[in-house]
Amino acid sequence: MSRIIITGGAGRLGRSLVAGLAAVGHDIVSFDRAVSDAPELAEIPQVAVDLTDPDAATRAVADARADALIHLAAIAVPFSAPEDVILRTNAALALNTVGAGIAAGIPKIVTASSPTVLGYGAPTGWLPDRFPLDEDTPPKPWNAYALSKHLAEQTIAMFARQTGDATRFAAFRPCYVIAPEEWAGAPTQQGHTVLERLADPALSAPALFNYVDARDVAGFVDTLLEALPDIPNAETFFVGADDALAREPLADLMPRFVPGSDHVASVLTGTAPAFSNAKARRMLGWRPTRTWRGELGEPAMADALDITNRKDVPA
Ligand SMILES: NC(=O)c1ccc[n+]([C@@H]2O[C@H](COP(=O)([O-])OP(=O)(O)OC[C@H]3O[C@@H](n4cnc5c(N)ncnc54)[C@H](O)[C@@H]3O)[C@@H](O)[C@H]2O)c1
Repeated sequence: MSRIIITGGAGRLGRSLVAGLAAVGHDIVSFDRAVSDAPELAEIPQVAVDLTDPDAATRAVADARADALIHLAAIAVPFSAPEDVILRTNAALALNTVGAGIAAGIPKIVTASSPTVLGYGAPTGWLPDRFPLDEDTPPKPWNAYALSKHLAEQTIAMFARQTGDATRFAAFRPCYVIAPEEWAGAPTQQGHTVLERLADPALSAPALFNYVDARDVAGFVDTLLEALPDIPNAETFFVGADDALAREPLADLMPRFVPGSDHVASVLTGTAPAFSNAKARRMLGWRPTRTWRGELGEPAMADALDITNRKDVPA
């Protein structure tokens, strides 16, 4: 059991992470701008702090006497504030919070990044060399949010160069996070429901049909914290489901939304997602346990799709 600070603990992902990590026995402290009355936080100590203030961040983090720090606090939606505000806020949050963690001697520090660092959706076009996308795909952020997440990754890499292995760092890029209540019909981060996202591929295309169950993210973070002393320092991981949030193979869907991707997307047959979670599987032994079909009670399609795509099966 560890004592873990979660910044942004009152947020969409934060609440699930607080609940998931508390459920497996960790002692959680949630930091956010204000105390929240969310049910997931009812039994959790909360600290109201503006983490853009470096002195306040340093004091609050030191007072919490934690063994691990998970930094989620951010302006989390691209273009939800002026570009300069997003960049300044998220950069300051990462620098102050991670810096406060190091000053307090916290040995394990993890920051949330985002798949958007890769730069898909850029108005001038974007085409990867190959699918699935993974940690070797070059980041090409095209807006302040994506740039701020790239900076968050670079912030931990910078600090790792200062501290060496005395502090163990990692960054993770959660795919589009879906919380339990959202499977049940509550609006997702972009305002529409999961079923609407599935019915209209144009809604899921901006995230390249990626998603991950929030409880799987909590499982990932728990596994990552355990593994941190034994893996190389300041690694980055994609955290995504094993399948795509789509009813059709991405080999067919992707070229409709990413012009010119016919050839590179042709490997995304069956239910294959655009983002690989192979590094987290290989290095951490983590795997997601939930799929949208399972959560929505729809029959598994993987076998059917695989058979459709196999050339050797007689019609
Ligand atoms: N939800 C997703 O699908 C998703 C996907 C990729 C990455 N992420 C990343 O995960 C993290 C959490 O995302 P989320 O969806 O829960 O966002 P969210 O907006 O629901 O939560 C962010 C929280 O940070 C807090 N915060 C903002 N500024 C603060 C400050 N100055 N001091 C203290 N707290 C502050 C907010 O009050 C909020 O509760 C973010 O870093 C986001 O970039 C989320």
